[in-house]
Amino acid sequence: YRNLRVALLGGGNVGAQVARLLLEQSEEFANRVGAGLELVGILVRDVNAERTVDLPHELFTTDAESLILGADVVIELLGGIEPARSYILMAMNSGADVVTANKALLATHGPELFAVADQVGAQLNYEAAVAGAIPILRPLRDSLGGDQINRILGIVNGTTNFILDRMDTDGDSLEEALATATELGYAEADPTADIGGYDAAQKAAILASLAFHTHVPLASVYREGITEVTPAQIESARKAGYVVKLLAICERITDAATGQAGVSARVYPAMVPRSHPLAAVHGANNAVFVEAESAGSLMFYGAGAGGVETASAVLGDLVSLARRHIAGGPGVAASIHADLPVFDIGSITTRY
Ligand code: NAP
Ligand code: HSE
Repeated sequence: YRNLRVALLGGGNVGAQVARLLLEQSEEFANRVGAGLELVGILVRDVNAERTVDLPHELFTTDAESLILGADVVIELLGGIEPARSYILMAMNSGADVVTANKALLATHGPELFAVADQVGAQLNYEAAVAGAIPILRPLRDSLGGDQINRILGIVNGTTNFILDRMDTDGDSLEEALATATELGYAEADPTADIGGYDAAQKAAILASLAFHTHVPLASVYREGITEVTPAQIESARKAGYVVKLLAICERITDAATGQAGVSARVYPAMVPRSHPLAAVHGANNAVFVEAESAGSLMFYGAGAGGVETASAVLGDLVSLARRHIAGGPGVAASIHADLPVFDIGSITTRY
């Protein structure tokens, strides 16, 4: 098989880490996929900007069209609606498959993008759009695709969880904690999206649409952010045995007045008892509880934000899509290709 040409749109917090890992682990990826994944360019606004990750200068470009039209796979990590939407449409219409982490775009233009993907037979993967490194979308769509999901509840924004945690444990102000979250690469380019609850609402719309097999428009998601949460409220919650967390709740409900079945999605800061597992979600971690008819209760936990953590989900989407792109290639067996020794260490266990 010939190499697959991979175009990267965006070289910021997430994009730079995706590029680094693609370059550093190219041989391993080629083994797993059955074809090389050749990074052909990185679209940025300023090719001469200083970057935190050392990447070959010749990869950077501002010529979106040439980059996209010459690619087999396009990874969109620009953020925002435009030009991300137009670039993804251009990519799919030109025969490329797409990976994106852009929840703002998916929550507002998802139906349009999915329709075009179906029409032209393109793959559009977006695991990184919800809960960073945590695999949650594919489990909802595939592993739980034969079950009925009744409820999803959790923490889906890393920045606000980091801020509330810092306010609770270190006495930081919201502004101080937000500055740190931004420095660490957790916050959106416009952090109003995080603290205003917009990012969590976008994720709730995506989760609810997938879980309940119905289009849940962003405008129908009830939203409150954390900007009104005061240190005094956090302190009195602590004294009462609670911690304040920004929750996203999506559930099947029945309208009390009409008896009609439907769904609800909402995001707001809530008092969580300190004994609840969600109270133990610290820093930029996320946790998502899924309640399904047959499977019962499931919990997904891990890094909800961060460049390298999110890159893991993006690259997982890329590997999965690249394997299908070269269908007829090595298939499932390709995931088992290394020749590592297996050590017999008996029953000795290390401290865990
Ligand atoms: P970021 O650090 O702001 O990086 C954005 C990159 O896109 C930059 O390299 C920027 O170029 C480039 N860019 C933006 N607009 C452009 C335009 N019009 N033309 C050309 N290049 C443009 O963003 P990020 O944190 O990596 O996030 C990227 C995406 O991943 C977003 O959709 C975000 O919501 C999502 N996401 C982020 C995280 C996270 O933890 N950060 C987690 C999950 C999902 P310059 O470098 O030249 O400015
Ligand atoms: N800004 C987002 C967050 C990035 O803090 O959760 C991950 O989607």
